Amino acid sequence: MRIAAFGVREAERPYFAHWAKATGDQLALHSELLTPTTVSLAAGAQAITCFQTVPYAPGVFAGMAALNLHYLALRNTGTDNVDFAAAKRHGVHVSNVPAYSPAAIAEFAIADMLYLLRHTGAVQADLHRGDYPAAALHLGRELNACTVGVVGTGRIGRALIRLLNGFGATVLTTDTHRQPIAGLRYTAVPLPELLAQSDIVTLHIPGTPENTHLIDTNALARMRRGALLINTGRPNLVDTRALIAALQSGHIGGAGIDTYENETADLLALDRRGHFNDPQWQALLAQPNVVLSPHIAYYTATAVQNMVETALTCLHDFVQTNESALEVAGQ
Ligand code: COI
Repeated sequence: MRIAAFGVREAERPYFAHWAKATGDQLALHSELLTPTTVSLAAGAQAITCFQTVPYAPGVFAGMAALNLHYLALRNTGTDNVDFAAAKRHGVHVSNVPAYSPAAIAEFAIADMLYLLRHTGAVQADLHRGDYPAAALHLGRELNACTVGVVGTGRIGRALIRLLNGFGATVLTTDTHRQPIAGLRYTAVPLPELLAQSDIVTLHIPGTPENTHLIDTNALARMRRGALLINTGRPNLVDTRALIAALQSGHIGGAGIDTYENETADLLALDRRGHFNDPQWQALLAQPNVVLSPHIAYYTATAVQNMVETALTCLHDFVQTNESALEVAGQ
């Protein structure tokens, strides 16, 4: 099979190479993202796989149709950047990888929690200033003594609850409607109660329009004074302006943000030196009790291998049967 891969990162290349050897597929690997202009690189292929957080514009699907290409396999989970109406109009089927490594994201959320509870950022900053005595005075808190509100009990939320149970933390969730999940210890309560009772709130729900700014000024005000907020979920879940105000006032004690609200706009507007210039990002960076990361909670070798192999399997299914179990219908 002839497949054009876009948005290819170095870490993915060994898995693509292994796949090509095992299947005989001809893979054209492009580091370029898939845009109305770059889609022409797929001429001669039977299907496309891509990884990107910036939008799949309508012109991408028009370009695919013009090349008689009807299958696009995303190598990631989120589909909020896909114009499904345009895909449908141009007869393009889209699949995603719904779960490549829930543990990768759950473990990253734990890493952020421990970083904030033990003030690692402030300790490092003191040491870099040469102030060893000050670095030794950041009194930590213990995760086992915390109540952690896990918003969302999908695959990632469940993987995280398992880890938190191991640490001995008290776990709350908001999924009051669902059957208790076997083997996990937690209590389901309505969101306002979860916010009011948690020392740490961590978000693992989809970035649907209804969930946009779930954590806004009101939600932050409901949270305990000094509570921590972790977002390794989706960029639109947190109203960043409100979070900055709550951090600056001291009401919120710290935040771990891997999925930053304006990431896509900022990536599209990188300055000439490739810098990410955004006043809200700078305001968060300036806070010693905030740990930022560039949407990498998912980024482990296990996850990358699963992303590549699952997407290529979807393309085989599509080309052979015109269907894939992982096709995304879109809204
Ligand atoms: C996803 O799989 O949707 C993620 O959030 C990872 C991302 C960098 C595309």
